[in-house]
Amino acid sequence: MSDKLIIFDTTLRDGEQSPGASMTKDEKVRIAKVLEKMRVDVIEAGFAIASQGDFEAVSAVAKAVKDSTICSLARALDKDIDRAGEAVSHANSSRIHTFIATSDIHMEKKLGMTRDEVVAQAVHAVKRARKYTDDVEFSAEDAGRSDIDFLCRIFEAAINAGATTINVPDTVGYNIPHQFGETMRSLIERIPNSDKAIFSAHCHNDLGLAVSNSLSAVLNGARQIECTINGLGERAGNTSLEEVVMAVRTRQDIFDCDTNIDAQHIVAASRLVSSVTGFVVQPNKAIVGANAFAHEAGIHQDGVLKHRETYEIMRAEDVGWNTNKLVLGKHSGRNAFKARLKELGVEFDSEESLNNAFRRFKDLADKKHEIFDEDLQALVSETQSEMKESIRLVALKVSSETGEDNIANVTLSVDGEEKHAEASTSGSVDAAYSAINKIVDVDLNLQLYSVSNVTQGTDSLGEVNVRLEHDGRIVNGQGADTDIITASAKAYINGLNKILAHRMRAHPQV
Ligand code: KIV
Ligand code: ZN
Repeated sequence: MSDKLIIFDTTLRDGEQSPGASMTKDEKVRIAKVLEKMRVDVIEAGFAIASQGDFEAVSAVAKAVKDSTICSLARALDKDIDRAGEAVSHANSSRIHTFIATSDIHMEKKLGMTRDEVVAQAVHAVKRARKYTDDVEFSAEDAGRSDIDFLCRIFEAAINAGATTINVPDTVGYNIPHQFGETMRSLIERIPNSDKAIFSAHCHNDLGLAVSNSLSAVLNGARQIECTINGLGERAGNTSLEEVVMAVRTRQDIFDCDTNIDAQHIVAASRLVSSVTGFVVQPNKAIVGANAFAHEAGIHQDGVLKHRETYEIMRAEDVGWNTNKLVLGKHSGRNAFKARLKELGVEFDSEESLNNAFRRFKDLADKKHEIFDEDLQALVSETQSEMKESIRLVALKVSSETGEDNIANVTLSVDGEEKHAEASTSGSVDAAYSAINKIVDVDLNLQLYSVSNVTQGTDSLGEVNVRLEHDGRIVNGQGADTDIITASAKAYINGLNKILAHRMRAHPQV
């Protein structure tokens, strides 16, 4: 049995299926670059057939990433596989992940197919995918509730057809650790050609057991875990990458395998995914929560000061905490700026976008003399978008006085034409949003508004996330500024621009 545990990250596919977590092509590329730096083995970049936007995002990730394998999901249908094959064709290393449901309830009620038909379709799909790449993954959707004899039959047939990875999804998060582990063990033992494929666990967190189930699968022979940053995913989410990686690494006395992950990038990846999706990380979340390494109780602090291992099983710096570096200041030049961003995985595709980002950096350095990596990341989030921005913030003035209504004066450029509006309400952000709404007349429902500080101190950049719904479509907008009212306006405008640019997409499992 191999001692390498493959990490298959599906933040950009299963994570993005979470309502509200939609990402643009540029955002997916940025996250994929961080995953590549983290040495994730396989990045599932999307579901290419879902929409033109999804296809373009998978292709863009395939072109941008060199060191990780890039994968697209495809139902066991010719049109899906052909689209997936085309989307990943630019990758240095590509994979097609095809799936069909195998539980009786799914086959009967959803697919209306017999077992024989499902096996035949799976075999056909794997063979077709092999025309595009030698690296084909087959998943039995709802394997966690499927008959084990049938799973043995379909997996054996898929391996004979050319599948190199066999994925066992607990699609509805129904399994319990010892049982899921037992399923994995028995599949590997009973399937005659199981030595020709890697077995993989794909767990959902409906009972809060996704990480435990995945680890139990590893203890029973699985050598790939499918997971997402921050456990992002539909309903209660997927297996969290940071938790499984650190559990396996911290308990090497128990696991006879390890991942290739460079854990120092975990916190940066967590922040980026949270900022792009607007899904805030709870403070007590393992590994990446703000309190994950904070020892408040006196007795703990005393112990940690005397000998850190009294209460700490991992080092915060090993997963990327406390790496806040004072990087650049007001007098730093363009080359230093460019070089530092390159170290952070950010490269500019044109001189114009570099100049644009550098101009914003100088503006920020005038307001805030200490600039940290997080500030730079927030700043480039705004400048890296290739999305056509039909609306731009030109000017914002807000006056507020205790006991009085706040008045916001907003000037926007809409398709190149400057427009102005004023609104007054009891809150500054509300007044700014009302003024924007007077200019841009789109029927919107604000589902989320959240503010967080990018670094410490009152001169920190404030980062605002909004989630907007329009005609059933949901987008996230982000904005950062040392002034949180301006950051709020930028986030709202960013969301509006996405609404104007986005198209509808299909869900793979519906
Ligand atoms: O949860 C699931 O079953 C999936 C499959 C498409 C692998 O995400
Ligand atoms: Zn899933």
